[in-house]
Amino acid sequence: MKIDGQSYRSIWLDKENNSLVNIIDQRFLPHELKFVQLKTVDDAARAIKEMWVRGAPLIGITAAFGMYFATLEAKKDTDADTYIRKAAQKLLNTRPTAVNLQWAVKKQLCKIFEINDPSERIKNAFNLACQLKMEDIEVCRKIGKFGIELIEEISEKKAGKTVNILTHCNAGWLACVDWGTATSPMYQAHDKGIDIHVWVDETRPRNQGARLTAWELGEHGIPHTIITDNAGGHLMQHGMVDMCIVGTDRTTITGDVANKVGTYLKALAAKDNNVPFYVALPSSTIDWKIKDGIKDIPIEERDQDEVLSIIGLHEDEIKKVTLAPKKSQAKNYGFDVTPARLVTALITERGICEANETSIKQLFDKK
Ligand code: MRU
Repeated sequence: MKIDGQSYRSIWLDKENNSLVNIIDQRFLPHELKFVQLKTVDDAARAIKEMWVRGAPLIGITAAFGMYFATLEAKKDTDADTYIRKAAQKLLNTRPTAVNLQWAVKKQLCKIFEINDPSERIKNAFNLACQLKMEDIEVCRKIGKFGIELIEEISEKKAGKTVNILTHCNAGWLACVDWGTATSPMYQAHDKGIDIHVWVDETRPRNQGARLTAWELGEHGIPHTIITDNAGGHLMQHGMVDMCIVGTDRTTITGDVANKVGTYLKALAAKDNNVPFYVALPSSTIDWKIKDGIKDIPIEERDQDEVLSIIGLHEDEIKKVTLAPKKSQAKNYGFDVTPARLVTALITERGICEANETSIKQLFDKK
């Protein structure tokens, strides 16, 4: 997508050196557009853990490149297999909820251990990381192609009047490689001339909505308004939301979805107000092994400091300020689970399906 009219992706290879991977350090957005080069497994693990990159699909792709770095580093180690396994574990330990991380690391481990020759391993791991990156772009484009139909339907019902879409967190191109999941239908609808407006939940504590989604949409010229996390229910009661579209970090085969904390409350409010609640996802976020999201999806708990303070721009400098009494404690759950019964439908790269086991398996030809 575009920044200042110029095309960017969230992760890309260095033009001159294939063993360097560039990312946008998202901690500084929207105030500063800072590029960083990753070159080691430790770099990739740190970038994921400290959320320089974030969002389920991008976490997976960064880990895939991390595994490529592992093959480069293992070449110098006497026990290459152990080195690669340890690197995989290091990456897997970074963030627990997004299943794309395991998905990408497992794919790389299978590919790498197919052969013994170190140079072939490097080549294969590099090719697979590049392939997964390119596939993510295509998958997200397709999610938009299917999702736009839902927006078009509402637009027709409203005789072309503005379609108001509510989204939570950042399931945009910054969370993927390009397009985004929840935002892909929005970008494609806007580009087609459909009149849309997006309500952007600020998404405390790290404000991915206010900082990242608002910035992305603004760079693409999509009308949007940032709201506090608690405002969505009020807007829905007053007919100001036509649909919700959010992303997911892990989806059970029964259609439960784990997404940024607060998503569940939006789904409850949507149900109570007959507002359709859609979840957009690449199939890489489906965890085919689990059925009960509330019981089986690990929920990340992050540092309490993120809740007790806030980061923003003050007199041209990015600063952190304290919000709460010095002696107060906080709990910082990163995600929550929205049960399938609150999800109107899933928007995937294969099409749209109901959030239940039969429909998901049918769509993906699984027994
Ligand atoms: O903690 P984050 O910023 O990694 O959380 C991201 C989200 O919750 C996104 O909505 C989710 O990963 C879907 S991204 C297409």
